[in-house]
Amino acid sequence: MPGPPAFPPGFLWGAATSAYQIEGAPDADGKGLSIWDRFARTPGNCRNNETGDVACDHYRRWREDVALMRDLGLQAYRFSISWPRVIPDGEGAVNMAGLSFYDRLVDALLEAGIRPFPTLYHWDLPLALQDRWGGWQSRRTAEAFARYAGLVARHLSDRVRDFFTLNEFASFVDMGHRGLEVDAGARRLVLRLAPGLALAPEALGQVRHHAVLAHGLAVQAIRAEGRAGTRCGPADNLATAVPAIASPVHVEAAARATRDLNAGYLTVMLEGRYPDRYLEGPEAPEVAPGDLAAIAAPVDFIGLNLYRPAAYVLAAETPRGWRALPMAPGHPRMGSAWHSLGPEVLYWACRQVAMLWGPRAIYITESGCAADDAPGPDGTVADTDRIMYLRATLAALHRACAEGLPVLGHFAWSLLDNYEWTDGYARRFGLVHVDYATQARTPKLSAHWYRAVIEANALL
Ligand code: FCB
Repeated sequence: MPGPPAFPPGFLWGAATSAYQIEGAPDADGKGLSIWDRFARTPGNCRNNETGDVACDHYRRWREDVALMRDLGLQAYRFSISWPRVIPDGEGAVNMAGLSFYDRLVDALLEAGIRPFPTLYHWDLPLALQDRWGGWQSRRTAEAFARYAGLVARHLSDRVRDFFTLNEFASFVDMGHRGLEVDAGARRLVLRLAPGLALAPEALGQVRHHAVLAHGLAVQAIRAEGRAGTRCGPADNLATAVPAIASPVHVEAAARATRDLNAGYLTVMLEGRYPDRYLEGPEAPEVAPGDLAAIAAPVDFIGLNLYRPAAYVLAAETPRGWRALPMAPGHPRMGSAWHSLGPEVLYWACRQVAMLWGPRAIYITESGCAADDAPGPDGTVADTDRIMYLRATLAALHRACAEGLPVLGHFAWSLLDNYEWTDGYARRFGLVHVDYATQARTPKLSAHWYRAVIEANALL
């Protein structure tokens, strides 16, 4: 009997979280507020008006959480650094007390043999910058972000080798500044995030431009300020077009679709120009001299957050050469309303990114699902549905590795159940269950399964 499908030697296994979703302590030790503090506290924005004020209380329980990670056998941990914890008003004085929190976390991770992969922006923009100049509507936010990124790289790169710049461009740009409509089969959903604006197309296009500019300027700042050998790249939720029929003509059309769908994000970041069709559209940005070169500053890896196909597509006799199929009304989904099932997205995203842009390396920076997890009578959280989901996504990832695509690692979303933005605490994504009343952590069955996968470096 052949053994279980093995991942390449040295494949890195991790889990991910983000600051606002787990830390709590929104004003501890001089932290400034973020747009999420205001958005979540504004009635009507989030489920049951829940906020991240306490979340997983990780700001105080980080030691326990690092111990949990070690027990899970994690080799890497992707977390985010809260910009307003480090620079409370976004561009002024550095709050050393805030920065030291991440020092302690990084030191504890290294001591536990876990490689830290911080993300510099996971949506918690300093509120001061929103109020001062409209946040991402101003290019000054991109410039301020680069200064903050350089500062963090200077401070941590003696111990941290890998940084992600910004998390999920389309999420915080489109959902935060207009509301993003997604096809979820039986219904269309409009997803929203902070700051909860509804901008006109030109203004939205400019926000998008500032987001990718922030990434490029941050890459330059990290190179300038970090130690030699510091590596960085984006953590993007590539809108992935999956070929409904994987024959060559449709496979090629799907790759074209993916390039089009990401025109304002990875496409411009990796090609250094916006596609013509995008520039003819209503969201075409104003581009200052030098911007495109900055946006396309060479990166060391691409992080991909992958949950669902953006669409299933087929080749078509149209100028753009593809058409998206409507999601079937009965298309199955996981716990979140938006989460149409499509584990094959992990394979197609890696293959298309490699085909279109030939990056040096890819990390899966998020993959996972929500489920209705609750401890059973014996205390076990038997999340067989999550194991089914993760096994299917890892099978797709294994195919990518087996075909030689340069995928170096996988971060499960998420280490812990946590604050799921506008869904509040109702959606549990963790490998580890959190009882929010007591803050007790209980590894779910999926955590035990993941530990076994890590130990075997194989799909189990
Ligand atoms: C991603 C976010 C992450 C989490 C998961 C479920 O879009 O990056 O913070 O909410 O979805």
